Amino acid sequence: MAKGFILVAGVLSIVHRVTSLATASGTYEPVAAAWYTGWHATEGFPLSAVSWDKYNTLFYSFAITTPSVNSLSLNGSNPSLLPQFVSQAHEHGIAAHVAIGGWGGGLWFSSDVATPENRTVFVKAVADFAEQYDLDGINFDWEYPNDQGIGCNTISANDTQNFLYFLQELRANPVGAKLTLSAATALSPFRDASGSPSTDVSGFAEVLDYIAIMNYDVWGPWSPAVGPNAPLNDTCASPTDQDGSAVSAVKAWTAAGIPVNQIVLGVPSYGHSFSVSPSNAFPLGDAWDDTGSVDACGVYEGPGGTFNLWGLVDGGFLTADGNTAPGIYYRYDDCSQTPYVYNATSQVIVSFDNARSFAAKGSYIKETGLRGFAMWEAGGDYKDILLDSIRFTAGFD
Ligand SMILES: *[C@@H]1O[C@H](CO)[C@@H](O)[C@H](O)[C@H]1NC(C)=O
Ligand SMILES: *[C@@H]1O[C@H](CO)[C@@H](O)[C@H](O)[C@H]1NC(C)=O
Ligand SMILES: *[C@@H]1O[C@H](CO)[C@@H](O)[C@H](O)[C@H]1NC(C)=O
Ligand SMILES: *[C@@H]1O[C@H](CO)[C@@H](O)[C@H](O)[C@H]1NC(C)=O
Ligand SMILES: *[C@@H]1O[C@H](CO)[C@@H](O)[C@H](O)[C@H]1NC(C)=O
Repeated sequence: MAKGFILVAGVLSIVHRVTSLATASGTYEPVAAAWYTGWHATEGFPLSAVSWDKYNTLFYSFAITTPSVNSLSLNGSNPSLLPQFVSQAHEHGIAAHVAIGGWGGGLWFSSDVATPENRTVFVKAVADFAEQYDLDGINFDWEYPNDQGIGCNTISANDTQNFLYFLQELRANPVGAKLTLSAATALSPFRDASGSPSTDVSGFAEVLDYIAIMNYDVWGPWSPAVGPNAPLNDTCASPTDQDGSAVSAVKAWTAAGIPVNQIVLGVPSYGHSFSVSPSNAFPLGDAWDDTGSVDACGVYEGPGGTFNLWGLVDGGFLTADGNTAPGIYYRYDDCSQTPYVYNATSQVIVSFDNARSFAAKGSYIKETGLRGFAMWEAGGDYKDILLDSIRFTAGFD
Protein backbone atom coordinates (compact mmCIF):
# COMPACT_ATOMS: atom_id res chain seq x y z
CA MET A 1 0.00 0.00 0.00
CA ALA A 2 2.72 2.45 1.03
CA LYS A 3 4.65 1.52 -2.08
CA GLY A 4 1.61 2.34 -4.18
CA PHE A 5 1.40 5.79 -2.70
CA ILE A 6 5.02 6.55 -3.45
CA LEU A 7 4.49 5.43 -7.02
CA VAL A 8 1.42 7.62 -7.42
CA ALA A 9 3.21 10.68 -6.06
CA GLY A 10 6.03 10.11 -8.55
CA VAL A 11 3.60 9.84 -11.44
CA LEU A 12 1.75 12.99 -10.45
CA SER A 13 4.88 15.08 -10.46
CA ILE A 14 5.81 13.79 -13.91
CA VAL A 15 2.31 14.43 -15.20
CA HIS A 16 2.41 17.94 -13.85
CA ARG A 17 5.64 18.72 -15.63
CA VAL A 18 4.46 17.22 -18.88
CA THR A 19 1.05 18.86 -18.88
CA SER A 20 2.38 22.28 -19.68
CA LEU A 21 4.42 20.92 -22.57
CA ALA A 22 1.45 19.06 -24.00
CA THR A 23 -0.77 22.08 -23.58
CA ALA A 24 1.76 24.33 -25.26
CA SER A 25 1.60 22.25 -28.42
CA GLY A 26 -1.95 20.99 -28.00
CA THR A 27 -4.69 22.48 -30.09
CA TYR A 28 -8.15 21.14 -30.61
CA GLU A 29 -8.27 21.03 -34.37
CA PRO A 30 -10.92 18.59 -35.55
CA VAL A 31 -9.51 15.41 -37.10
CA ALA A 32 -10.45 14.12 -40.55
CA ALA A 33 -8.11 11.19 -40.92
CA ALA A 34 -7.47 7.80 -42.44
CA TRP A 35 -4.82 5.14 -42.33
CA TYR A 36 -2.87 4.69 -45.58
CA THR A 37 -1.45 1.19 -45.95
CA GLY A 38 1.95 1.09 -47.62
CA TRP A 39 1.41 -2.46 -48.86
CA HIS A 40 -1.67 -1.54 -50.89
CA ALA A 41 0.24 1.11 -52.87
CA THR A 42 1.18 -1.56 -55.39
CA GLU A 43 -2.23 -3.23 -55.24
CA GLY A 44 -4.36 -0.49 -56.72
CA PHE A 45 -4.08 2.36 -54.23
CA PRO A 46 -0.98 4.43 -55.07
CA LEU A 47 -0.40 7.83 -53.50
CA SER A 48 -1.91 9.45 -56.60
CA ALA A 49 -5.27 7.89 -55.69
CA VAL A 50 -5.45 9.56 -52.26
CA SER A 51 -8.09 12.30 -51.81
CA TRP A 52 -5.58 14.43 -49.93
CA ASP A 53 -7.75 17.52 -49.75
CA LYS A 54 -10.54 15.74 -47.87
CA TYR A 55 -8.30 14.91 -44.90
CA ASN A 56 -6.18 16.92 -42.52
CA THR A 57 -4.24 13.88 -41.24
CA LEU A 58 -3.08 10.60 -42.73
CA PHE A 59 -1.43 7.77 -40.82
CA TYR A 60 1.10 5.80 -42.87
CA SER A 61 0.81 2.17 -41.80
CA PHE A 62 2.75 0.47 -40.36
CA ALA A 63 6.10 0.89 -38.74
CA ILE A 64 6.48 -2.23 -36.63
CA THR A 65 8.22 -2.92 -33.37
CA THR A 66 11.23 -5.23 -33.54
CA PRO A 67 13.04 -7.48 -31.03
CA SER A 68 15.46 -4.62 -30.63
CA VAL A 69 14.14 -1.69 -28.59
CA ASN A 70 16.26 0.79 -30.53
CA SER A 71 14.69 0.15 -33.90
CA LEU A 72 11.42 0.28 -35.79
CA SER A 73 10.90 -1.46 -39.12
CA LEU A 74 8.90 -0.59 -42.22
CA ASN A 75 9.33 -4.13 -43.53
CA GLY A 76 6.20 -5.13 -45.43
CA SER A 77 4.96 -1.54 -45.70
CA ASN A 78 6.84 -0.28 -48.75
CA PRO A 79 9.67 1.56 -46.93
CA SER A 80 10.76 3.59 -49.95
CA LEU A 81 7.26 5.09 -50.27
CA LEU A 82 7.20 6.79 -46.88
CA PRO A 83 9.32 9.83 -47.88
CA GLN A 84 7.02 10.40 -50.88
CA PHE A 85 3.97 10.03 -48.67
CA VAL A 86 5.30 12.67 -46.30
CA SER A 87 6.25 15.14 -49.02
CA GLN A 88 2.93 14.74 -50.84
CA ALA A 89 0.99 15.17 -47.59
CA HIS A 90 2.96 18.34 -46.89
CA GLU A 91 2.39 19.64 -50.41
CA HIS A 92 -1.32 19.29 -49.70
CA GLY A 93 -0.97 20.99 -46.35
CA ILE A 94 -1.95 17.96 -44.31
CA ALA A 95 -0.25 16.24 -41.40
CA ALA A 96 1.80 13.12 -42.11
CA HIS A 97 1.78 10.66 -39.24
CA VAL A 98 3.10 7.12 -38.98
CA ALA A 99 1.17 4.43 -37.19
CA ILE A 100 3.39 2.12 -35.17
CA GLY A 101 2.21 -1.40 -34.49
CA GLY A 102 -1.05 -2.77 -35.84
CA TRP A 103 -2.42 -6.24 -35.27
CA GLY A 104 0.79 -7.99 -36.38
CA GLY A 105 3.33 -5.25 -35.64
CA GLY A 106 3.16 -4.74 -31.91
CA LEU A 107 4.92 -7.88 -30.73
CA TRP A 108 7.57 -5.92 -28.81
CA PHE A 109 5.63 -2.93 -27.43
CA SER A 110 5.46 -4.48 -23.98
CA SER A 111 9.19 -5.18 -23.72
CA ASP A 112 10.01 -1.81 -25.35
CA VAL A 113 8.37 0.03 -22.46
CA ALA A 114 8.96 -2.51 -19.67
CA THR A 115 11.83 -0.80 -17.86
CA PRO A 116 13.09 2.78 -17.43
CA GLU A 117 16.15 1.84 -19.52
CA ASN A 118 14.07 0.46 -22.39
CA ARG A 119 11.67 3.39 -22.31
CA THR A 120 14.52 5.84 -22.68
CA VAL A 121 15.91 3.93 -25.65
CA PHE A 122 12.47 3.53 -27.23
CA VAL A 123 11.71 7.25 -26.80
CA LYS A 124 14.89 7.99 -28.71
CA ALA A 125 14.04 5.40 -31.39
CA VAL A 126 10.59 6.93 -31.96
CA ALA A 127 11.89 10.52 -31.88
CA ASP A 128 14.72 9.68 -34.29
CA PHE A 129 12.27 7.95 -36.61
CA ALA A 130 9.94 10.96 -36.58
CA GLU A 131 12.83 13.29 -37.26
CA GLN A 132 14.30 11.11 -40.00
CA TYR A 133 11.04 11.09 -41.94
CA ASP A 134 9.91 14.63 -41.05
CA LEU A 135 6.72 13.38 -39.42
CA ASP A 136 4.07 15.53 -37.77
CA GLY A 137 2.75 12.81 -35.54
CA ILE A 138 2.83 9.24 -34.30
CA ASN A 139 -0.18 6.98 -33.88
CA PHE A 140 0.51 4.18 -31.40
CA ASP A 141 -1.44 1.16 -32.50
CA TRP A 142 -0.68 -1.25 -29.66
CA GLU A 143 -3.16 -4.12 -29.81
CA TYR A 144 -3.34 -4.22 -26.80
CA PRO A 145 -1.71 -3.29 -23.48
CA ASN A 146 -2.01 -6.23 -21.06
CA ASP A 147 -4.42 -7.92 -23.44
CA GLN A 148 -2.92 -10.51 -25.74
CA GLY A 149 -3.92 -9.72 -29.32
CA ILE A 150 -2.42 -11.77 -32.12
CA GLY A 151 -1.14 -14.47 -29.77
CA CYS A 152 2.60 -13.94 -29.50
CA ASN A 153 2.93 -10.37 -28.24
CA THR A 154 5.20 -9.72 -25.31
CA ILE A 155 2.85 -8.82 -22.49
CA SER A 156 2.99 -7.63 -18.89
CA ALA A 157 0.49 -6.79 -16.19
CA ASN A 158 2.15 -3.35 -16.06
CA ASP A 159 1.70 -2.55 -19.78
CA THR A 160 -0.75 0.31 -19.33
CA GLN A 161 1.28 1.98 -16.60
CA ASN A 162 4.50 1.49 -18.59
CA PHE A 163 2.86 2.86 -21.73
CA LEU A 164 1.92 6.00 -19.81
CA TYR A 165 5.46 6.39 -18.41
CA PHE A 166 6.79 5.99 -21.94
CA LEU A 167 4.43 8.63 -23.38
CA GLN A 168 5.33 11.04 -20.58
CA GLU A 169 8.99 10.60 -21.38
CA LEU A 170 8.33 11.00 -25.11
CA ARG A 171 6.51 14.29 -24.37
CA ALA A 172 9.51 15.47 -22.37
CA ASN A 173 11.74 14.83 -25.41
CA PRO A 174 12.25 17.95 -27.59
CA VAL A 175 11.11 16.11 -30.73
CA GLY A 176 8.27 14.27 -28.98
CA ALA A 177 6.98 17.49 -27.44
CA LYS A 178 6.17 18.84 -30.89
CA LEU A 179 4.56 15.74 -32.36
CA THR A 180 0.85 15.08 -32.47
CA LEU A 181 0.55 11.88 -30.48
CA SER A 182 -2.41 9.54 -30.67
CA ALA A 183 -3.29 5.96 -29.87
CA ALA A 184 -5.53 3.57 -31.74
CA THR A 185 -7.52 1.80 -29.05
CA ALA A 186 -9.95 -0.98 -28.34
CA LEU A 187 -13.53 -0.17 -27.35
CA SER A 188 -12.78 -0.39 -23.66
CA PRO A 189 -10.08 1.51 -21.78
CA PHE A 190 -6.56 0.07 -21.56
CA ARG A 191 -6.44 -2.84 -19.15
CA ASP A 192 -5.11 -2.31 -15.69
CA ALA A 193 -2.74 -4.71 -13.92
CA SER A 194 -5.63 -6.96 -12.92
CA GLY A 195 -6.76 -7.28 -16.53
CA SER A 196 -9.89 -5.15 -16.14
CA PRO A 197 -10.53 -1.98 -18.11
CA SER A 198 -8.80 0.88 -16.25
CA THR A 199 -11.17 3.15 -14.37
CA ASP A 200 -8.84 6.14 -14.65
CA VAL A 201 -6.84 6.77 -17.81
CA SER A 202 -6.88 10.54 -17.43
CA GLY A 203 -3.08 10.54 -17.42
CA PHE A 204 -3.18 9.60 -21.10
CA ALA A 205 -5.29 12.67 -21.86
CA GLU A 206 -2.36 14.79 -20.65
CA VAL A 207 0.15 13.25 -23.03
CA LEU A 208 -1.87 12.11 -26.04
CA ASP A 209 -3.55 14.62 -28.32
CA TYR A 210 -6.32 12.09 -28.90
CA ILE A 211 -7.27 8.46 -29.03
CA ALA A 212 -8.84 6.87 -32.09
CA ILE A 213 -11.29 4.21 -30.97
CA MET A 214 -11.23 1.31 -33.40
CA ASN A 215 -14.95 0.77 -33.59
CA TYR A 216 -14.82 -2.15 -36.00
CA ASP A 217 -14.28 -5.90 -35.97
CA VAL A 218 -16.89 -5.98 -33.21
CA TRP A 219 -18.52 -8.92 -34.95
CA GLY A 220 -16.88 -11.01 -37.65
CA PRO A 221 -16.53 -14.57 -38.88
CA TRP A 222 -15.01 -15.52 -35.50
CA SER A 223 -18.26 -14.57 -33.73
CA PRO A 224 -20.83 -17.22 -32.85
CA ALA A 225 -23.44 -15.49 -35.00
CA VAL A 226 -23.83 -12.86 -37.69
CA GLY A 227 -23.53 -9.36 -36.25
CA PRO A 228 -22.49 -5.81 -37.10
CA ASN A 229 -18.84 -5.10 -37.91
CA ALA A 230 -19.08 -1.50 -36.75
CA PRO A 231 -22.17 -0.80 -34.67
CA LEU A 232 -22.85 2.82 -33.87
CA ASN A 233 -25.09 1.75 -31.02
CA ASP A 234 -25.81 -1.40 -29.09
CA THR A 235 -27.82 -0.19 -26.12
CA CYS A 236 -30.88 -1.25 -28.10
CA ALA A 237 -29.56 -4.82 -28.58
CA SER A 238 -30.39 -7.64 -26.22
CA PRO A 239 -27.94 -7.65 -23.28
CA THR A 240 -26.14 -10.80 -24.46
CA ASP A 241 -25.51 -9.15 -27.85
CA GLN A 242 -24.05 -5.95 -26.45
CA ASP A 243 -20.50 -6.57 -27.63
CA GLY A 244 -19.61 -2.91 -27.90
CA SER A 245 -20.35 0.05 -30.14
CA ALA A 246 -19.31 3.65 -30.70
CA VAL A 247 -21.87 4.78 -28.13
CA SER A 248 -20.77 2.35 -25.42
CA ALA A 249 -17.05 2.87 -26.17
CA VAL A 250 -17.28 6.66 -25.93
CA LYS A 251 -19.21 6.25 -22.70
CA ALA A 252 -16.52 3.96 -21.27
CA TRP A 253 -13.53 6.10 -22.31
CA THR A 254 -15.07 9.37 -21.13
CA ALA A 255 -16.03 7.77 -17.81
CA ALA A 256 -12.37 6.76 -17.46
CA GLY A 257 -11.16 10.30 -18.01
CA ILE A 258 -10.68 10.98 -21.73
CA PRO A 259 -12.61 14.14 -22.71
CA VAL A 260 -14.90 13.81 -25.75
CA ASN A 261 -12.84 16.33 -27.69
CA GLN A 262 -9.87 13.98 -27.41
CA ILE A 263 -11.78 11.08 -28.90
CA VAL A 264 -11.71 10.35 -32.62
CA LEU A 265 -14.10 7.72 -33.91
CA GLY A 266 -12.41 4.98 -35.94
CA VAL A 267 -14.65 3.96 -38.83
CA PRO A 268 -14.22 1.14 -41.35
CA SER A 269 -14.31 1.27 -45.14
CA TYR A 270 -14.76 -2.50 -45.11
CA GLY A 271 -17.17 -5.11 -43.87
CA HIS A 272 -17.01 -8.69 -42.73
CA SER A 273 -18.69 -11.55 -44.53
CA PHE A 274 -20.28 -14.56 -42.93
CA SER A 275 -21.19 -17.81 -44.60
CA VAL A 276 -24.71 -18.71 -43.66
CA SER A 277 -24.55 -22.19 -45.20
CA PRO A 278 -24.45 -25.12 -42.78
CA SER A 279 -20.75 -25.60 -43.41
CA ASN A 280 -18.39 -23.56 -41.28
CA ALA A 281 -16.21 -22.50 -44.19
CA PHE A 282 -15.33 -18.83 -44.17
CA PRO A 283 -15.86 -17.21 -47.54
CA LEU A 284 -13.04 -15.43 -49.30
CA GLY A 285 -13.53 -11.67 -49.48
CA ASP A 286 -12.25 -9.27 -52.11
CA ALA A 287 -8.86 -9.11 -53.82
CA TRP A 288 -7.25 -7.45 -50.77
CA ASP A 289 -8.53 -10.18 -48.49
CA ASP A 290 -5.86 -12.29 -46.93
CA THR A 291 -5.99 -15.43 -49.04
CA GLY A 292 -4.35 -17.35 -46.26
CA SER A 293 -0.85 -16.71 -45.02
CA VAL A 294 1.48 -17.09 -42.09
CA ASP A 295 0.95 -14.32 -39.52
CA ALA A 296 3.49 -12.47 -37.36
CA CYS A 297 3.36 -15.33 -34.85
CA GLY A 298 4.15 -17.90 -37.53
CA VAL A 299 0.62 -19.25 -37.44
CA TYR A 300 -1.27 -20.03 -40.64
CA GLU A 301 -4.44 -17.95 -40.96
CA GLY A 302 -7.07 -18.67 -43.60
CA PRO A 303 -9.05 -16.10 -45.59
CA GLY A 304 -10.51 -13.31 -43.48
CA GLY A 305 -13.67 -12.83 -45.54
CA THR A 306 -13.18 -9.06 -45.60
CA PHE A 307 -14.82 -6.88 -48.24
CA ASN A 308 -13.77 -3.29 -48.79
CA LEU A 309 -16.47 -1.01 -50.13
CA TRP A 310 -14.93 -1.26 -53.61
CA GLY A 311 -14.84 -5.03 -53.15
CA LEU A 312 -18.60 -5.10 -52.60
CA VAL A 313 -18.99 -3.27 -55.91
CA ASP A 314 -16.55 -5.66 -57.62
CA GLY A 315 -18.26 -8.62 -56.01
CA GLY A 316 -21.68 -7.69 -57.39
CA PHE A 317 -23.28 -6.79 -54.05
CA LEU A 318 -23.43 -3.06 -54.80
CA THR A 319 -23.78 -0.99 -57.93
CA ALA A 320 -21.18 1.65 -58.85
CA ASP A 321 -23.19 4.34 -57.04
CA GLY A 322 -23.09 2.31 -53.82
CA ASN A 323 -26.69 1.11 -53.94
CA THR A 324 -27.76 -2.50 -53.61
CA ALA A 325 -27.34 -4.50 -56.83
CA PRO A 326 -30.38 -6.20 -58.38
CA GLY A 327 -30.97 -9.65 -56.88
CA ILE A 328 -29.12 -8.83 -53.63
CA TYR A 329 -31.02 -8.60 -50.36
CA TYR A 330 -30.42 -5.49 -48.27
CA ARG A 331 -31.30 -4.72 -44.68
CA TYR A 332 -30.44 -1.66 -42.62
CA ASP A 333 -30.28 -2.55 -38.95
CA ASP A 334 -31.74 0.36 -36.96
CA CYS A 335 -30.10 -0.65 -33.70
CA SER A 336 -26.48 -0.82 -34.86
CA GLN A 337 -27.27 1.64 -37.67
CA THR A 338 -25.34 -0.44 -40.17
CA PRO A 339 -26.39 -2.30 -43.33
CA TYR A 340 -26.18 -5.91 -44.47
CA VAL A 341 -26.20 -7.33 -47.97
CA TYR A 342 -26.95 -10.97 -48.74
CA ASN A 343 -26.45 -13.11 -51.81
CA ALA A 344 -28.81 -16.04 -51.47
CA THR A 345 -27.03 -18.06 -54.14
CA SER A 346 -23.59 -17.92 -52.60
CA GLN A 347 -25.17 -17.74 -49.12
CA VAL A 348 -22.81 -14.93 -48.17
CA ILE A 349 -23.99 -12.12 -45.92
CA VAL A 350 -21.82 -9.05 -45.39
CA SER A 351 -22.08 -6.57 -42.54
CA PHE A 352 -20.56 -3.33 -43.81
CA ASP A 353 -20.85 0.46 -43.87
CA ASN A 354 -22.39 2.59 -46.59
CA ALA A 355 -23.19 6.27 -47.12
CA ARG A 356 -26.19 6.03 -44.79
CA SER A 357 -24.33 4.43 -41.87
CA PHE A 358 -21.37 6.80 -42.32
CA ALA A 359 -23.81 9.71 -42.26
CA ALA A 360 -25.17 8.39 -38.95
CA LYS A 361 -21.66 8.06 -37.54
CA GLY A 362 -20.78 11.59 -38.70
CA SER A 363 -23.90 13.02 -37.05
CA TYR A 364 -23.03 11.20 -33.86
CA ILE A 365 -19.50 12.68 -33.94
CA LYS A 366 -20.90 16.17 -34.35
CA GLU A 367 -23.68 15.86 -31.76
CA THR A 368 -21.39 14.29 -29.17
CA GLY A 369 -18.55 16.74 -29.72
CA LEU A 370 -15.99 14.12 -30.65
CA ARG A 371 -12.73 15.30 -32.23
CA GLY A 372 -13.44 13.73 -35.63
CA PHE A 373 -13.07 10.48 -37.54
CA ALA A 374 -10.29 8.18 -38.69
CA MET A 375 -11.04 5.67 -41.41
CA TRP A 376 -9.41 2.28 -41.80
CA GLU A 377 -8.42 2.43 -44.52
CA ALA A 378 -8.20 5.21 -47.10
CA GLY A 379 -8.02 2.74 -49.98
CA GLY A 380 -11.10 0.77 -48.98
CA ASP A 381 -13.58 3.42 -50.04
CA TYR A 382 -15.14 3.60 -53.49
CA LYS A 383 -15.29 6.98 -55.23
CA ASP A 384 -15.25 8.62 -51.78
CA ILE A 385 -18.80 7.48 -51.06
CA LEU A 386 -17.98 6.93 -47.39
CA LEU A 387 -15.55 9.79 -46.96
CA ASP A 388 -17.90 12.37 -48.47
CA SER A 389 -20.78 11.13 -46.35
CA ILE A 390 -19.03 11.28 -42.98
CA ARG A 391 -17.27 14.57 -43.78
CA PHE A 392 -20.59 16.18 -44.53
CA THR A 393 -22.50 15.13 -41.40
CA ALA A 394 -19.52 15.48 -39.06
CA GLY A 395 -19.26 19.08 -40.17
CA PHE A 396 -16.10 19.16 -42.32
CA ASP A 397 -17.76 20.59 -45.42
C1 LIG B 1 10.63 -8.85 -43.67
O1 LIG B 1 9.46 -9.64 -43.52
C2 LIG B 1 9.54 -10.89 -44.17
C3 LIG B 1 8.22 -11.60 -43.98
O2 LIG B 1 7.16 -10.74 -44.06
C4 LIG B 1 10.67 -11.70 -43.56
O3 LIG B 1 10.79 -12.91 -44.26
C5 LIG B 1 11.97 -10.92 -43.66
O4 LIG B 1 12.97 -11.61 -42.95
C6 LIG B 1 11.81 -9.54 -43.05
N1 LIG B 1 13.01 -8.78 -43.27
C7 LIG B 1 13.56 -8.06 -42.30
C8 LIG B 1 14.79 -7.29 -42.69
O5 LIG B 1 13.13 -8.03 -41.17
C1 LIG C 1 14.34 -4.43 -23.06
O1 LIG C 1 14.63 -4.49 -24.45
C2 LIG C 1 15.45 -5.59 -24.83
C3 LIG C 1 15.69 -5.64 -26.33
O2 LIG C 1 15.86 -4.56 -27.00
C4 LIG C 1 14.80 -6.88 -24.49
O3 LIG C 1 15.65 -7.96 -24.81
C5 LIG C 1 14.45 -6.90 -23.02
O4 LIG C 1 13.74 -8.09 -22.76
C6 LIG C 1 13.63 -5.70 -22.65
N1 LIG C 1 13.37 -5.72 -21.22
C7 LIG C 1 12.26 -6.20 -20.69
C8 LIG C 1 12.17 -6.23 -19.20
O5 LIG C 1 11.31 -6.60 -21.38
C1 LIG D 1 4.85 -4.17 -12.07
O1 LIG D 1 5.31 -3.00 -11.39
C2 LIG D 1 5.47 -3.20 -10.01
C3 LIG D 1 5.76 -1.86 -9.36
O2 LIG D 1 6.60 -1.10 -10.16
C4 LIG D 1 6.58 -4.22 -9.78
O3 LIG D 1 6.75 -4.45 -8.42
C5 LIG D 1 6.16 -5.52 -10.46
O4 LIG D 1 7.20 -6.45 -10.38
C6 LIG D 1 5.84 -5.29 -11.93
N1 LIG D 1 5.27 -6.50 -12.49
C7 LIG D 1 5.67 -7.00 -13.64
C8 LIG D 1 4.95 -8.21 -14.10
O5 LIG D 1 6.56 -6.51 -14.30
C1 LIG E 1 -28.65 4.38 -28.73
O1 LIG E 1 -29.74 3.64 -28.30
C2 LIG E 1 -30.40 4.21 -27.19
C3 LIG E 1 -31.46 3.22 -26.70
O2 LIG E 1 -32.08 2.58 -27.73
C4 LIG E 1 -30.98 5.56 -27.57
O3 LIG E 1 -31.61 6.15 -26.45
C5 LIG E 1 -29.85 6.46 -28.06
O4 LIG E 1 -30.36 7.67 -28.55
C6 LIG E 1 -29.08 5.77 -29.18
N1 LIG E 1 -27.93 6.60 -29.54
C7 LIG E 1 -27.56 6.82 -30.81
C8 LIG E 1 -26.39 7.72 -31.03
O5 LIG E 1 -28.11 6.31 -31.75
C1 LIG F 1 -24.43 -14.32 -56.07
O1 LIG F 1 -23.37 -15.25 -56.03
C2 LIG F 1 -23.38 -16.14 -57.14
C3 LIG F 1 -22.37 -17.24 -56.84
O2 LIG F 1 -21.14 -16.68 -56.46
C4 LIG F 1 -23.07 -15.35 -58.38
O3 LIG F 1 -23.03 -16.21 -59.50
C5 LIG F 1 -24.16 -14.31 -58.57
O4 LIG F 1 -23.85 -13.47 -59.66
C6 LIG F 1 -24.36 -13.47 -57.32
N1 LIG F 1 -25.59 -12.74 -57.43
C7 LIG F 1 -25.64 -11.46 -57.69
C8 LIG F 1 -26.99 -10.86 -57.77
O5 LIG F 1 -24.63 -10.82 -57.82
